[in-house]
Amino acid sequence: MRSSSENSALANNRVLSGMRPTGRLHLGHYHGVLKNWVRMQKDYECFYFVADWHALTTHYDTPETMNEHIWEMVIDWLAAGVDPEQATLFIQSRIPEHAELHLLLSMVTPLGWLERVPSFKDQQRKLHDKDLSTYGFLGYPLLQAADILMYRAAHVPVGEDQVPHVELTREIARRFNYFFGRGPNFEIEAQQAIKQMGGKTAKSFSRLKQLFNEKGDREAHAQGIALILGQQNLNQTQKDQLVGFLEGRGKAILPEPEALLTEAAKMPGLDGQKMSNSYDNIIALRDEPKRVEQSIRVMPTDPARVRITDPGDPDKCPVWQLHLVYSDEDTQAWASSGCRAASFGCLECKQPLIEKVLEQQEEIRQRAQPYESNPERVKEVIHAGCQKARTVAVETMEIVREAVGTAYK
Ligand code: TRP
Ligand code: SF4
Repeated sequence: MRSSSENSALANNRVLSGMRPTGRLHLGHYHGVLKNWVRMQKDYECFYFVADWHALTTHYDTPETMNEHIWEMVIDWLAAGVDPEQATLFIQSRIPEHAELHLLLSMVTPLGWLERVPSFKDQQRKLHDKDLSTYGFLGYPLLQAADILMYRAAHVPVGEDQVPHVELTREIARRFNYFFGRGPNFEIEAQQAIKQMGGKTAKSFSRLKQLFNEKGDREAHAQGIALILGQQNLNQTQKDQLVGFLEGRGKAILPEPEALLTEAAKMPGLDGQKMSNSYDNIIALRDEPKRVEQSIRVMPTDPARVRITDPGDPDKCPVWQLHLVYSDEDTQAWASSGCRAASFGCLECKQPLIEKVLEQQEEIRQRAQPYESNPERVKEVIHAGCQKARTVAVETMEIVREAVGTAYK
């Protein structure tokens, strides 16, 4: 099988990621996802969106919560430092092209591919009180594929659980390109482009193509790609075409994306389990300082430390996990040795942590403040983002309609 980078070599430096609006964001989201979004926005052309249709696939029974959840989540993004001057922020359902692309992709998506996505059965089992034997829920990963392919994104930062969805997206893109990537003049146009490269280059291209197609020579493939990318007098469409031609398939209309695995910091909840809304153990991103302090003060610690004189083991303590996320090396060394030597009590160990969390949250709350006091500003950010996203979506759909034969003139 071909590896992804070969086909996405021609893609841009676009990044796309989405989040379902299922409630207020917490520190797990912050350290697991948002910090990463913020980090990427400087170096890539980032599109971050509210996956509201995805939320509806599982939460169709609570439509009244959508409005609030959406705006609260966008404020959380902004509070975390996502910068609307750098990244494009939008709402999925405001770009109806996503629905059209989802539909068109569904024409070439084998049912078995969707039924085999691990999250399908997992989530049905986990959310057993909900009826998830719906068409919409089965199509969840395909809708995600449409989100990604719409922006022809090269990179999709996701957590581990989402990797199969990106993998499916790649397979769908490949199949779509296979069915629809060859226009009636594909061969002629490809030959034309080869000619344009000039006699000598054209000759080595043909030799590389033959080596790859007949013998699967990967080195020849890599050289062929490099050769195409180096051609100054070919436009992007011609380059795409030639990559397809080199590989013996059609033109890559929808480039295959790459999952960028986010190394999620292990964020313990207040009870030591993973922090999650469904366990009721969260510290919200914009939580009340008093509540944050109180919650950390009562957090469970190593159960061996019954009395202050009992030594403890940080590895058995969820508070230590928080130190790993928040404290500098000196504080960590202090906490760890003090714990093992029983030289102080757990409350004392928690104190620098409380200060650190509050300090960071203060910054977050300050960034949120102008948006909280003037919700119109949030709407403006989203409005502008939707317009930008829409421009790209309209462009993609023109190409896609042309390819599937529905661009009637
Ligand atoms: N399924 C993703 C999640 O639950 C959300 C999502 C929807 C997404 N569309 C996407 C993520 C496209 C990345 C790219 O987290
Ligand atoms: Fe946990 Fe610190 Fe108490 Fe040790 S001293 S058990 S690390 S809170």
